[in-house]
Amino acid sequence: MKTLRLTDIDHAAAILSQGGVLAFPTETVFGLGVDATNPNAVEKLFAAKGRPSDNPLIVHVGSIKHWPLAAAELTPSAAILLKHFSPGPITVIVPKHPSISPAVTAGLDTVGLRIPNHPIAQAILTKANRPIAAPSANRSGRPSGTTWQSVLEDLDGLIDAIFVGQSPGIGLESTVVDCVHEPPTILRPGAISLEMIRSVIPAATAGLTTDSAMTVRSPGTLHPHYQPKAEVCLVTTADEFQSTRESTVYRDHSSDGPKDTLPPEKIAYCGLETIANQESLGAYSHFATAEEYARHLYEFLREADRRGVSKIFCQLVPPSGIGEALNDRLRRAAGRG
Ligand code: TXA
Ligand code: MG
Repeated sequence: MKTLRLTDIDHAAAILSQGGVLAFPTETVFGLGVDATNPNAVEKLFAAKGRPSDNPLIVHVGSIKHWPLAAAELTPSAAILLKHFSPGPITVIVPKHPSISPAVTAGLDTVGLRIPNHPIAQAILTKANRPIAAPSANRSGRPSGTTWQSVLEDLDGLIDAIFVGQSPGIGLESTVVDCVHEPPTILRPGAISLEMIRSVIPAATAGLTTDSAMTVRSPGTLHPHYQPKAEVCLVTTADEFQSTRESTVYRDHSSDGPKDTLPPEKIAYCGLETIANQESLGAYSHFATAEEYARHLYEFLREADRRGVSKIFCQLVPPSGIGEALNDRLRRAAGRG
């Protein structure tokens, strides 16, 4: 299949209306969209992503007034959250509209509803005028795509088209909130933090995604996610990076026996703190703020893979604001989801 590169909204919307698979930018990460009412299109999407079928997809609409395309009703907490934070990086779990294909919701009677705050996404969704199921645009398990080039790295030839748009601004997927049960519970942290949600619904809680009850409520969260090919090792400080790195023994099978430490070009580091001798590393980035770190994380992990790095050290951040979501993705990238 040849994947079309598009910059025309009408053409992009027509591809969705005709049952095609289209990658498009949102303010979080690129989405991989299909008509959520078309079972064949949904099947094509699962095949392109290589996604397990027990992991439900988020359904997107172009503006708040379009919510009846995806949901049967808005629960009171969903209405409050959409009023304050939508369009934006939040997904509310609500009772599903009967027209949404069961494959989209993995057989659940609920649906994740999101209105992206991105002009291209809004224009395509509004023009298509139908509910669009869109997981992150990456092969299942890989870091999400935050540039169109990275999306094509995973999916060129597997999808009908990509809208060649600007990189998203947030860089991590939306906050997912269960609004069916009371009190509302965060199933996946994102840019809309627990503090922000509690400012409008004080009883809201943060779910532990490793909790077994939570796994039932948010299926698919235990599958591997956001993982580069290189091993990811988490550190809390730059000093911890230095000491862990020194004790990393490297076996070079091309010569005899165990060798000394991993050569610097096989190591990558990213975090808020700078480190010494960064020039010798295979990949290095330090960020002024957690927001900037979040925006560039997935692209950093992919770049480390492109450079053949074998171990990526990532610094955890203070867990406030987007820090909670960033630490969640770092833990999952390290296989400790
Ligand atoms: O920012 C985002 O949310 C991006 C952009 C493209 O909008 N989309 C995204 O979709 O990250 P995806 O499919 O990669 O993640 C969907 C998440 C999963 O954790 C899934 O378990 C949860 O949402 N989810 C979807 N529908 C659900 C439902 N009915 N009940 C519980 N959890 C649900
Ligand atoms: Mg994803």
